[in-house]
Amino acid sequence: MVHIHKTIEQKKEECITLLRSTNRDKIEDLITHITSMGYFEAPGSLKHHRFVGGLVSHSLETYHKAMELCEEKIRDGFSPDLMPKDSVIIAALMHDLCKADALRYSKTLHRTIEIKQTDHSARSVRKVRSSGFILTPAEEDAILMHMGGKRRIKDEIKRKEHFMKNPLSDIIHRADGKSIGESKRRHHPEQYR
Ligand SMILES: [Fe+2]
Repeated sequence: MVHIHKTIEQKKEECITLLRSTNRDKIEDLITHITSMGYFEAPGSLKHHRFVGGLVSHSLETYHKAMELCEEKIRDGFSPDLMPKDSVIIAALMHDLCKADALRYSKTLHRTIEIKQTDHSARSVRKVRSSGFILTPAEEDAILMHMGGKRRIKDEIKRKEHFMKNPLSDIIHRADGKSIGESKRRHHPEQYR
Protein backbone atom coordinates (compact mmCIF):
# COMPACT_ATOMS: atom_id res chain seq x y z
CA MET A 1 0.00 0.00 0.00
CA VAL A 2 3.07 2.26 0.05
CA HIS A 3 2.27 3.47 -3.45
CA ILE A 4 -0.83 5.51 -2.45
CA HIS A 5 1.46 7.92 -0.57
CA LYS A 6 3.78 8.44 -3.52
CA THR A 7 3.71 11.62 -5.58
CA ILE A 8 2.46 11.48 -9.15
CA GLU A 9 6.06 11.95 -10.36
CA GLN A 10 7.15 8.91 -8.32
CA LYS A 11 4.24 6.89 -9.70
CA LYS A 12 5.17 7.91 -13.24
CA GLU A 13 8.73 6.78 -12.61
CA GLU A 14 7.58 3.47 -11.10
CA CYS A 15 5.29 2.84 -14.05
CA ILE A 16 7.95 3.60 -16.68
CA THR A 17 10.53 1.46 -14.79
CA LEU A 18 8.08 -1.45 -14.71
CA LEU A 19 7.29 -1.10 -18.43
CA ARG A 20 11.01 -0.98 -19.30
CA SER A 21 11.67 -4.02 -17.09
CA THR A 22 9.59 -6.13 -19.51
CA ASN A 23 12.33 -5.69 -22.16
CA ARG A 24 9.63 -6.10 -24.78
CA ASP A 25 10.02 -4.95 -28.37
CA LYS A 26 8.63 -1.41 -28.96
CA ILE A 27 8.23 -0.74 -25.23
CA GLU A 28 9.79 2.74 -25.68
CA ASP A 29 7.24 3.50 -28.42
CA LEU A 30 4.47 2.44 -26.03
CA ILE A 31 5.84 4.71 -23.27
CA THR A 32 6.04 7.67 -25.68
CA HIS A 33 2.51 6.94 -26.90
CA ILE A 34 0.88 6.73 -23.47
CA THR A 35 2.72 9.86 -22.32
CA SER A 36 1.40 11.84 -25.29
CA MET A 37 -2.11 10.53 -24.61
CA GLY A 38 -2.03 12.05 -21.12
CA TYR A 39 -1.77 8.76 -19.21
CA PHE A 40 0.18 10.30 -16.32
CA GLU A 41 -2.21 13.20 -15.73
CA ALA A 42 -5.60 11.59 -16.40
CA PRO A 43 -7.99 10.65 -13.58
CA GLY A 44 -8.84 6.95 -13.23
CA SER A 45 -12.56 7.11 -13.82
CA LEU A 46 -15.74 9.16 -13.39
CA LYS A 47 -16.44 7.03 -10.29
CA HIS A 48 -13.10 6.21 -8.63
CA HIS A 49 -9.53 7.60 -8.51
CA ARG A 50 -11.02 10.96 -9.47
CA PHE A 51 -7.89 13.10 -9.33
CA VAL A 52 -4.95 14.17 -11.47
CA GLY A 53 -2.77 11.07 -11.75
CA GLY A 54 -5.68 8.79 -10.84
CA LEU A 55 -5.19 6.57 -13.87
CA VAL A 56 -1.53 5.78 -13.16
CA SER A 57 -2.39 5.35 -9.44
CA HIS A 58 -5.20 2.89 -10.22
CA SER A 59 -3.09 1.04 -12.80
CA LEU A 60 -0.21 0.59 -10.34
CA GLU A 61 -2.59 -0.58 -7.61
CA THR A 62 -4.02 -3.08 -10.09
CA TYR A 63 -0.49 -4.28 -10.87
CA HIS A 64 0.47 -4.75 -7.19
CA LYS A 65 -2.76 -6.58 -6.41
CA ALA A 66 -2.37 -8.72 -9.54
CA MET A 67 1.10 -9.79 -8.37
CA GLU A 68 -0.40 -10.88 -5.03
CA LEU A 69 -3.14 -12.80 -6.84
CA CYS A 70 -0.47 -14.44 -9.04
CA GLU A 71 1.11 -15.92 -5.91
CA GLU A 72 -2.31 -17.20 -4.86
CA LYS A 73 -2.87 -18.82 -8.27
CA ILE A 74 0.54 -20.51 -8.15
CA ARG A 75 -0.27 -21.84 -4.65
CA ASP A 76 -3.52 -23.19 -6.14
CA GLY A 77 -1.48 -25.15 -8.70
CA PHE A 78 -1.54 -22.91 -11.78
CA SER A 79 1.64 -22.78 -13.83
CA PRO A 80 3.58 -19.49 -13.48
CA ASP A 81 4.11 -19.72 -17.27
CA LEU A 82 0.46 -18.71 -17.68
CA MET A 83 1.10 -15.45 -15.80
CA PRO A 84 4.59 -14.21 -16.74
CA LYS A 85 5.57 -11.03 -14.94
CA ASP A 86 5.91 -9.00 -18.15
CA SER A 87 2.33 -9.91 -19.07
CA VAL A 88 1.06 -8.94 -15.62
CA ILE A 89 2.82 -5.57 -15.98
CA ILE A 90 1.51 -4.90 -19.49
CA ALA A 91 -2.08 -6.02 -18.85
CA ALA A 92 -2.37 -4.29 -15.45
CA LEU A 93 -0.83 -1.00 -16.54
CA MET A 94 -2.59 -0.86 -19.94
CA HIS A 95 -6.07 -2.22 -19.12
CA ASP A 96 -7.59 1.29 -18.82
CA LEU A 97 -5.39 3.07 -21.38
CA CYS A 98 -8.52 4.20 -23.25
CA LYS A 99 -9.15 6.68 -20.42
CA ALA A 100 -5.85 8.52 -20.88
CA ASP A 101 -7.16 10.83 -23.59
CA ALA A 102 -10.83 10.56 -22.65
CA LEU A 103 -10.96 11.81 -19.05
CA ARG A 104 -9.65 15.01 -17.50
CA TYR A 105 -9.87 16.32 -13.96
CA SER A 106 -11.30 19.83 -13.94
CA LYS A 107 -9.75 21.82 -11.09
CA THR A 108 -12.38 24.54 -11.52
CA LEU A 109 -15.33 22.14 -11.45
CA HIS A 110 -13.64 19.83 -8.89
CA ARG A 111 -14.67 16.78 -10.82
CA THR A 112 -13.69 14.41 -13.61
CA ILE A 113 -15.07 15.25 -17.03
CA GLU A 114 -15.38 12.97 -20.04
CA ILE A 115 -13.96 14.58 -23.17
CA LYS A 116 -14.24 11.46 -25.33
CA GLN A 117 -16.30 8.29 -25.07
CA THR A 118 -14.07 5.56 -23.75
CA ASP A 119 -15.98 2.45 -24.93
CA HIS A 120 -13.40 0.96 -22.63
CA SER A 121 -11.59 -2.36 -23.01
CA ALA A 122 -11.60 -2.73 -26.81
CA ARG A 123 -10.43 0.87 -27.12
CA SER A 124 -7.57 0.17 -24.69
CA VAL A 125 -6.40 -2.69 -26.93
CA ARG A 126 -6.61 -0.48 -30.04
CA LYS A 127 -4.66 2.30 -28.30
CA VAL A 128 -1.85 -0.08 -27.28
CA ARG A 129 -1.72 -1.49 -30.82
CA SER A 130 -1.57 1.96 -32.41
CA SER A 131 1.83 2.50 -30.73
CA GLY A 132 3.18 -0.51 -32.65
CA PHE A 133 3.49 -2.59 -29.47
CA ILE A 134 2.32 -6.20 -29.86
CA LEU A 135 0.17 -7.70 -27.11
CA THR A 136 0.25 -11.45 -26.55
CA PRO A 137 -3.15 -13.18 -26.95
CA ALA A 138 -3.32 -13.65 -23.14
CA GLU A 139 -2.61 -9.94 -22.51
CA GLU A 140 -5.23 -8.92 -25.05
CA ASP A 141 -7.76 -11.26 -23.45
CA ALA A 142 -6.95 -9.89 -19.98
CA ILE A 143 -7.59 -6.32 -21.15
CA LEU A 144 -10.79 -7.27 -22.99
CA MET A 145 -12.13 -9.26 -20.02
CA HIS A 146 -11.03 -6.96 -17.20
CA MET A 147 -14.56 -5.74 -16.45
CA GLY A 148 -15.81 -9.29 -16.01
CA GLY A 149 -16.57 -10.06 -19.66
CA LYS A 150 -20.37 -10.17 -19.31
CA ARG A 151 -20.83 -8.60 -22.73
CA ARG A 152 -18.29 -10.85 -24.41
CA ILE A 153 -19.39 -14.15 -22.85
CA LYS A 154 -23.06 -14.06 -21.88
CA ASP A 155 -23.25 -17.52 -20.30
CA GLU A 156 -22.04 -17.38 -16.69
CA ILE A 157 -20.68 -20.94 -16.61
CA LYS A 158 -18.75 -20.39 -19.86
CA ARG A 159 -17.42 -17.14 -18.44
CA LYS A 160 -16.17 -18.91 -15.31
CA GLU A 161 -14.56 -21.61 -17.48
CA HIS A 162 -12.89 -18.89 -19.53
CA PHE A 163 -11.37 -17.33 -16.40
CA MET A 164 -10.22 -20.75 -15.18
CA LYS A 165 -8.43 -21.35 -18.49
CA ASN A 166 -6.98 -17.83 -18.57
CA PRO A 167 -5.57 -17.07 -15.10
CA LEU A 168 -3.98 -13.81 -16.31
CA SER A 169 -7.45 -12.50 -17.24
CA ASP A 170 -8.84 -13.64 -13.91
CA ILE A 171 -6.19 -11.89 -11.84
CA ILE A 172 -6.40 -8.62 -13.79
CA HIS A 173 -10.20 -8.58 -13.45
CA ARG A 174 -10.03 -9.25 -9.70
CA ALA A 175 -7.13 -6.86 -9.10
CA ASP A 176 -9.00 -4.10 -10.95
CA GLY A 177 -12.06 -4.69 -8.75
CA LYS A 178 -9.99 -4.60 -5.56
CA SER A 179 -8.35 -1.30 -6.53
CA ILE A 180 -11.73 0.26 -7.41
CA GLY A 181 -13.26 -0.96 -4.13
CA GLU A 182 -10.42 0.46 -2.04
CA SER A 183 -10.59 3.83 -3.81
CA LYS A 184 -14.32 4.09 -3.15
CA ARG A 185 -13.85 3.13 0.51
CA ARG A 186 -11.04 5.71 0.87
CA HIS A 187 -12.99 8.56 -0.70
CA HIS A 188 -16.60 7.66 0.18
CA PRO A 189 -16.37 5.75 3.49
CA GLU A 190 -19.94 6.81 4.41
CA GLN A 191 -21.30 4.40 1.77
CA TYR A 192 -19.54 1.44 3.36
CA ARG A 193 -20.49 1.76 7.01
FE1 LIG B 1 -9.46 -0.35 -14.16
